[in-house]
Amino acid sequence: MVQPPSSRVNLAYTDENRSPLRIDTEWRTTALANQWIERWEQGHTGWHELAGNARLKQHWRGTGKHVLVPFCGKSRDMLWLEEQGNKVAGVELSELAIEAFFNENELEFTVRDGALKAFQAKTRQITIYCGDYFALQTEPFDAHFDRGALIALPRDRRPAYAAHTSSLLTDSAQQFVITVEYDQNVVAGPPFSVLPTEVGSYWPDLRQIAAQDDIENGPPKFRAAGLKRMTEVIWRSS
Ligand SMILES: C[S@@+](CC[C@H](N)C(=O)[O-])C[C@H]1O[C@@H](n2cnc3c(N)ncnc32)[C@H](O)[C@@H]1O
Repeated sequence: MVQPPSSRVNLAYTDENRSPLRIDTEWRTTALANQWIERWEQGHTGWHELAGNARLKQHWRGTGKHVLVPFCGKSRDMLWLEEQGNKVAGVELSELAIEAFFNENELEFTVRDGALKAFQAKTRQITIYCGDYFALQTEPFDAHFDRGALIALPRDRRPAYAAHTSSLLTDSAQQFVITVEYDQNVVAGPPFSVLPTEVGSYWPDLRQIAAQDDIENGPPKFRAAGLKRMTEVIWRSS
């Protein structure tokens, strides 16, 4: 039997009687995870917004929430959300990214062991869990902020992301999701183009509240490939 390549990240798989299909899925998932780890190691983090996301600041509503931020990277949006009176829980594969978040923002932190190691700011209501988001199991959150998570995943992984996210949210949780739309015949993701029908199939209560061309902030490879338009779309629950 073909063996999966050695992994540099520990993903949470416990099934002892794995079918060949199961191994394929795991292998692919591990390969995807390693690509993200390598991007951080090589400093290829072009998605990071130095001033945070402008649309979040324009359109976010909510204070006193416990906000889940999957695939958080070292996003400054976590600081902004906390400054609005929320408690923030990020989840990130790369420990390098998490340490960069705390160091660049001059935040002291403690580390707590668990299924996913928890890095907790000493003076701010921000915790970042290190590891595979799909292994996160916690109490339900009442808010969700997604920039660069759903669209970071290829089509076949997105339903699992949406289902897992929903399982971590209360029934009335507030959601704020940012997608991009562009012609994938011109260039391939990530970030992947995610169309409204797909978003609606995961979360029918989300409404599109803003959309604007954002090709200027798209990956350089998009413009190099001749892509002229990439729309950033903001989705929010009412
Ligand atoms: C496109 S970046 C977006 C980062 C951040 N949300 C932002 O807006 O700057 C995607 C991030 O997800 C992380 N990631 C990818 N797969 C993950 C997984 N399965 N679990 C946790 N984090 C993951 C990557 O390491 C990367 O930092």
